[in-house]
Amino acid sequence: MSSLAVIVLAAGDGTRMKSTRPKVLHEIAHRPMLRHVLDAVAPLRPGRTLVVIGKDMPALAAAAAPAETAVQSPPLGTGHAVKVALAALGDVAGDVLVLVGDAALITTATLASLIAERRRAPEATVAVLGMRPAEPGAYGRLVVAADGSLEAIVEARDATPEQRAIALCNSGVIALEGRHASDLVGAIENQNARHEYYLTDVVAIARKRGLLCRTIEAPAEETVGVNSRAELAVAEATMQQRLRARHMAAGVTLIDPTTVYFSADTVIGRDTMIEPSVIFGPGARVGEGVEIRAMSHIVGAIIGDGAIVGPFARLRPGTELGANVHVGNFVELKAARLGAGSKANHLAYIGDAVVGCQVNIGAGTITCNYDGFLKHETRIEDGASIGSNAALVAPVTIGANAIVGAGSVITRDVPADALALGRGEQVEKPGAAHDLRKRGTAAKRAKAERSKV
Ligand code: UD1
Ligand code: CA
Repeated sequence: MSSLAVIVLAAGDGTRMKSTRPKVLHEIAHRPMLRHVLDAVAPLRPGRTLVVIGKDMPALAAAAAPAETAVQSPPLGTGHAVKVALAALGDVAGDVLVLVGDAALITTATLASLIAERRRAPEATVAVLGMRPAEPGAYGRLVVAADGSLEAIVEARDATPEQRAIALCNSGVIALEGRHASDLVGAIENQNARHEYYLTDVVAIARKRGLLCRTIEAPAEETVGVNSRAELAVAEATMQQRLRARHMAAGVTLIDPTTVYFSADTVIGRDTMIEPSVIFGPGARVGEGVEIRAMSHIVGAIIGDGAIVGPFARLRPGTELGANVHVGNFVELKAARLGAGSKANHLAYIGDAVVGCQVNIGAGTITCNYDGFLKHETRIEDGASIGSNAALVAPVTIGANAIVGAGSVITRDVPADALALGRGEQVEKPGAAHDLRKRGTAAKRAKAERSKV
């Protein structure tokens, strides 16, 4: 959309979150709320995007980038925040779209329809995105005239009982005609319950000047604000539902969708099947035709086509599985690359490792990657086979097609095709078990006799 300037308000204290972190940096599906808002805005192709932040919020400025930021200090209300933003933006020819940073579930389609509504003939000066939340509570109420145009927004604190009974509320998203924006916002005063400059007053101000204001409704689940941890959890639930629906629509099978949790950035290929109770942290990329079995936890991992993961697998950042790799129950992988067709099917820890193709890693194998000071690498080349309960003390290399015997502690490199055994020699003493049993039985009997007397 041409000549559009976007302002996102994020300078408030967020007191109700009871947090040292700025509110809009709290995450939904492992992505800060502010980024969700900016992601919804981006496809509108605004000429400028500016985030209003408070002073001493470097983390917020970093999260906003590449959007510009303007500092509002002290925060004197949403109207004051927009004034600061407009001063930084200068003249805006087209639309000014204002969003609140804590309504993170907003979608591009809804924003586009709000802008279209403002531009629709006869053009309105202000268009407000309305909603009907189940509990209107502290939201501003939209006062609509008989002809359907918008008369005013009244904050709940300042509303009369009749106004508070209005179900239609302000979502906080407002589109303004650029050429009137500075003028209208400049006229906002702070005579209200909180002595704040309310952006919402622009409607009454515009009406007083004979300018037209309108409202359209968006689904409440898309427009709810997050002001507390409880509301954050509600927003998370909505986002998870959206992500589940999106993945299923893209060809992923979820056997029990409500038990699977995604990150906003999770990528999954077609015909992948995900069993119940699987959790994706940030940075997971799953190929096509993969099976992720129940109770697996996947963070920062790339999984190749046709792989089978879990049940009960833990894939940590830096894991890369080639095609058709099998990772089974109670296997933990960290910074480990496994080449095509390799298998670690049970009870293993593979960390800081480069594993070739068609390698078999036996149950209980541990890469001993940490010597108490530094992490070291383990290399296992193509076709090698690691016996059960082997400890591979890094740095160490197991050559191609080598075999490591079960229970070995491997401290030196193993050449290709070699058999390595790093364990005590086995000794058999003929008849010794029989003798031992005889002595033991006699001792037991003697003890029982003594306790009788
Ligand atoms: C605001 C609206 C209310 C609407 C609701 C929707 C006003 C006066 N009220 O209320 O009508 O129903 O949003 O969620 O606009 N902020 C600043 N600077 C400030 C104050 C706030 O940047 O000085 C930012 C906050 O960081 C937040 C957003 O503006 O992201 C909204 O502020 P908040 O205090 O949450 O407003 P509400 O009381 O929820
Ligand atoms: Ca809010």
